Amino acid sequence: MTITIVEVGPRDGLQNEKQPVSVATKIELIDRLSATGLPVVEAASFVSPKWVPQMAGSAEVMAGITRHKGTQYPVLTPNLKGYEAARDSGAKIVAVFGAASESFSQKNINCSIDESLERFASVLEAAKTDGIKVRGYVSCVLGCPYEGEVALADVARVSAALYEAGCYEISLGDTIGVGTPARAREMLRAVANEVPMAALACHFHDTYGQALANVFACVEEGARVVDSSISGLGGCPYAKGATGNVATEDMVYMLEGLGMKTGIDLEKLMEVGRWISAELDRSPGAKVTNARS
Ligand code: HMG
Ligand code: MG
Repeated sequence: MTITIVEVGPRDGLQNEKQPVSVATKIELIDRLSATGLPVVEAASFVSPKWVPQMAGSAEVMAGITRHKGTQYPVLTPNLKGYEAARDSGAKIVAVFGAASESFSQKNINCSIDESLERFASVLEAAKTDGIKVRGYVSCVLGCPYEGEVALADVARVSAALYEAGCYEISLGDTIGVGTPARAREMLRAVANEVPMAALACHFHDTYGQALANVFACVEEGARVVDSSISGLGGCPYAKGATGNVATEDMVYMLEGLGMKTGIDLEKLMEVGRWISAELDRSPGAKVTNARS
């Protein structure tokens, strides 16, 4: 069985980084990641630099990377302005990002859920004309930093709205990493009642150390696309205290250990994790890397 890993380190991993990260480092990170066999590397984010300063320079990043034949490079776009900049940078896939929680939607993208769906509709319409694919994120699927519990019906409603609007894949984000495996499974099942399982991806942050267990539960439940971040880098600037996604290295180790195929060279991947950790002046965040050093 093949699992598609969506590497989100260059975007989700770096967007909350406090120290400056040069465009050259971002480009080298993306190029090194695609050389490990990763099929998807989320490369940049065309958001307002006033809101997320670390993602400034996304056009330069997209201009500087060497596009690998087997790798796709989606980028985040919150609105039509971001979409147009992404398209002009050569992006072939963009991602819109909504939320299942009203407060998070307001804090993160400064509009209500319904307003966000209207904004995304204009992105989807333009993308259709331009032949660009659109991924959809739903944040706060297992809890919200402002509202606490989030109803699964809301997660399913927003996911279905994005799918019906034309997103080819819906990534379900446990933004603050509060989910546990049984709840993650229940959430996935609730969404899969509305959206085909093949069009769903799981996106777990590891704040409470549950991400790998949640991935396991969701893969057992039928998910075949999972997001992760090299060395577990990251967090969302609008989810205080939330840590990065599950480390890609640990996820590859687990999935390959389960007999699944990821197409990724773990040794090369660990090397990238060591390199970017040294660049950011910290120790590697992946357990497998630390166990083998
Ligand atoms: P706003 O202030 O409401 O936007 O922000 P506006 O339309 O009123 O425009 C205000 C200013 O921003 C104007 O500039 C616009 O030109 C500019 P000014 O006239 O003041 O000089 N602007 C832009 N500039 C560059 N790129 C753009 C853009 N749009 C407007 N695309 C907006 C609304 C959506 C822009 C803002 O809230 C924003 O950029 N938010 C992004 C927040 C973000 O990036 N969060 C992290 C990513 S989501 C995440 O991490 C979760 C995820 O990983 C899944 C999970 O874990 O749950 C995906
Ligand atoms: Mg995230």
